[in-house]
Amino acid sequence: MEDRYAFLAEWFDPIAALMRRFQLFYYPNDGSMEMFDVKNQRVFLKRIKYDDIHPRDLFVGNRVNVFSRQLNLIDYGDQYTRNKLGSKKERTLALIKPDVVTKIGDVMELVYSSNLIVTKAKMTRLSWSQAADFYMEHQSKSFFNNLVQFMSSGPVVAMEIMGDEATSVWRKLLGPADSAAARREAPQSIRAHFGTDGLQNVGHGSESLDAAARELEFFFPSAIGHGPSNTATFTDCTCCIIKPHAVSDGLTGKILNSISAAGFEISALQMFNMERVNAEEFYEVYKGVVLEYPGMVTELCSGPCMALEIRGTDTPKTFREFCGPADPEIARHLRPNTLRALYGKDKVRNAVHCTDLPEDGVLEVQYFFKILDT
Ligand code: CDP
Ligand code: MG
Repeated sequence: MEDRYAFLAEWFDPIAALMRRFQLFYYPNDGSMEMFDVKNQRVFLKRIKYDDIHPRDLFVGNRVNVFSRQLNLIDYGDQYTRNKLGSKKERTLALIKPDVVTKIGDVMELVYSSNLIVTKAKMTRLSWSQAADFYMEHQSKSFFNNLVQFMSSGPVVAMEIMGDEATSVWRKLLGPADSAAARREAPQSIRAHFGTDGLQNVGHGSESLDAAARELEFFFPSAIGHGPSNTATFTDCTCCIIKPHAVSDGLTGKILNSISAAGFEISALQMFNMERVNAEEFYEVYKGVVLEYPGMVTELCSGPCMALEIRGTDTPKTFREFCGPADPEIARHLRPNTLRALYGKDKVRNAVHCTDLPEDGVLEVQYFFKILDT
């Protein structure tokens, strides 16, 4: 029998103003899908090949975009799918330590290439006491003071990563705690590549599922407003949003690397799941001006996006030039080294949003890092 994954999905129908439920089937053999309306017991979408959905996006709790509808995957549809896709899926904390925050693109590349996905991310700076709380288990160790001092010495990036056996996969990727030992025993590991010594060793990974749950709660608490705050400065800055299609295609690491390589500073970073009203509000100035406005709104709330505060000389102007013309086709002809030329697909899915008007840089950064990050 053909392999088939089943999910229960919800979609908020804005016209009828009600939540509709669907059975969603995905056929990995040919990348096709179909949908049934649960209440009305009828076919909603006939089986059709749909390239914009990736098997790695199919897990409970995720939001996927199917023909411009945002569907929330709320449950597995059968035991087969639960066993096949659900049983080994874990969420764990991957923390990038202050020694390599400028290499966040490289680290994310490694995360994606290990079939893990980043579901939450936030750049933050821990106070001495926050770092001490986080590493409480080590408080009697001789290295505790140095460790806390180091962890509070600069920004860190906390990520929730997800995938099969994410906890052990990520720790294996990191390698042994001592960077010198990592170079001897696990020369392919992240600590072997980027680590300095026994203290400055690139990253942290939770040691168990219990620890992962506790540590994720530390950085991404369920109670609003209780986590460590973001690092946005709101001065001399511009706003860049890595759009959901690019995040879902695993391009985040490459885009961050390109931005850093061009000499821009990423001074704040956070992933958001935009609600439609927020996407509409953020893009308000384009309404009635840009033909693609409705598509832009739908794209921005179709899955997690990554917001950045960018600093550098004469941003937003220089950063906007670096993003390139809004249409990737034109960008590829005229400015082949720009972000949109390299990573864009079409006018709506053009990889990144960047602030257009210099005077809006701070305002757009505030929209994400002050208003949405509550
Ligand atoms: O980070 P991991 O879980 O691999 O190692 P750990 O033994 O739980 O130690 C936590 C952190 O303390 C390490 O990642 C190092 O940064 C630091 N450490 C140190 O500075 N000196 C040691 N002898 C051991 C650990
Ligand atoms: Mg540890």
